[in-house]
Formats: sequence, C-alpha cells, structure tokens
Amino acid sequence: MRWRRKDLIGLEELTTNEIETVLDMAVSFKEISTRRIKKIPPLRGKTVVNLFFEPSTRTKTSFELAAKRLSADVLNFDVSTSSISKGETITDTAKNIEAMKVDCFIVRHSIAGAPKVIAENVSLSVINAGDGSHEHPTQALLDLFTVRERLGRIEGVNIAIIGDILHSRVARSNIWGFTKLGANVYVCGPPTIIPSEIEKMGAKIVYRIDDVLKYADVVYLLRLQKERQKENYLTSLKEYSNYYSIDEERYKKIVKNKAFLMHPGPINRGVEIKSDIVEKERSLILEQVTNGIAVRMAVLYLTIGAKR
Ligand code: CP
Repeated sequence: MRWRRKDLIGLEELTTNEIETVLDMAVSFKEISTRRIKKIPPLRGKTVVNLFFEPSTRTKTSFELAAKRLSADVLNFDVSTSSISKGETITDTAKNIEAMKVDCFIVRHSIAGAPKVIAENVSLSVINAGDGSHEHPTQALLDLFTVRERLGRIEGVNIAIIGDILHSRVARSNIWGFTKLGANVYVCGPPTIIPSEIEKMGAKIVYRIDDVLKYADVVYLLRLQKERQKENYLTSLKEYSNYYSIDEERYKKIVKNKAFLMHPGPINRGVEIKSDIVEKERSLILEQVTNGIAVRMAVLYLTIGAKR
C-alpha cells in the first residue's frame, strides 16, 4: 500500500505512485456498483461528513454514495441553517463537529485553501471537494481513471483542456495529474482566461481550438463560468461559442480522430458544447460521473479505511 496521507488536498502534492494506487483500487471498487446489493463493509462504524459551502450535484452525491457503498454513515451538514450564519468560523465549526467523533470531512469551499486550513486544525481526515480556483483532486482522479480505462494508458496521451483555465480548479488538478502520469497536456481558450504561468505546470498553450483538435486524443471541455463575461474576460458568450465550442463540424473531427469528449459538469448547453452532442457516441461525460463513485470509494478507503 503506497498511501500514508491523513488528507487529500490536491494532486500537486501526490506522487505518481499514490495516484496510481487510487486508480488501481478504483478498478476493483467499480464492480461493487454493478451488483444487486451495492454495499461492502470496510467503512462500517466510520462517519463521513459532507461540509459543502458551495453548491454541488455530482461531487456531493458521489461522495455520499461512495461512503454508503463502503458502509460508512454520512452526515450532510447544512451550511445555510448552521451557526456559520451567526458568524462562527469554519475552523470552529469543523472542530465542534470533530468533537462529535466523526472520521472524515469532505470540504467544498469558494475560497482556495479552505480545506487545507480545516485539515491543519483537526486531527481527522479532510478531502478537498473543490476549493476556489485551486484544486478539485477527486474530479481529476476520476478523469484519469476514465481515460486510462478507455485508452488503456495515460502516458503519451494528448489531452486538450479547453475553456476558462484561469478560474478552473478542475484544469489545475487535471494538469497536475495528467502530466505526472506522462500525458501531453494542452490548454486552449481565449488569451484573457489562460494564465501564462500555466506552462510552468507542464501544459502547452494553444489558442486555436481547430489546431489542437488535429492531435487531441481527449478533448476536455470546461464549464464557461458566465460571470466571467461581467468581469470583462470575454467579449460575448456568442463569440466564445463561435471560437471554442464543440459544434457539429468540430465533433466530426473528434469522430474522425477517434478522440473522446469529456466535461466535468455542470454543462452550459449551447455555450461550450452544442446541446445534442453531449450524449453522442464519443462523449464520456456520464461515464465520468459513474466512475466518480469508484474513485471516491478508493479515496475514502485509502484515507480512513486502510491502516496508514
Ligand atoms: N464536477 C463537479 O464538481 O460538479 P458539481 O459542482 O456538481 O459537484
């Protein structure tokens, strides 16, 4: 077992071996969700707490199902009705819930670094479920799992991450994960939302989507955060859509090259992707969601189920 961590905050700090340990373990956990009784006992007696300070559909539900399929109890902490609304700090909230003898916090927060601050103030395990523009490690792990399962490898794969790289925690975690496992990572989008420092992480910048589509094995679309238009990062959504969305013509190139289309969700249909392409043959979007449960089962098992 190559895992000695209390917390999972980001892929930046994980070794290649640790990432592969999660992916290998997720292979065996994936089968559990196909059984008639989708439950095994390794986390019996453990309690996992979802601490989500930002909305979520996929990540929150997926962690809850992953924990329950491993027989853990799950508490969904409701921030809106908690004492945070009376001014309690997130570390005081976390310490008070820890005092109730729970085992793991799954933390999503709009502020980059919030899960790390909580992790430094509690002795139980903290898993980052997305913090500001910093990282979303389990999203990247499920993306790595999906690519490895479909292509049989990650080393040498060309992945093009398209869209708002500047504000995307998903992009950052995926750049760390895919480069560590030997993929060639390209980022593509309008210059205003591609920071030049991204090259220091090992990604190459390409500004024209039609250039990168020529060699991409995986076309990974990011949700366009519509509020960025108000912040003057984009001239208009229509223009963004014309230059960067996957429409019928671009989808034909993906089919011709036997590439795959991925997206972490939620999708803005008609902005980064034409609506009827979402469920087409080369799309792995719902497969990513399915794989998220197996990967999160692996992360929970390694973090709180296995002896460190
Ligand atoms: N991919 C993702 O993080 O989706 P949610 O915001 O619905 O959790």
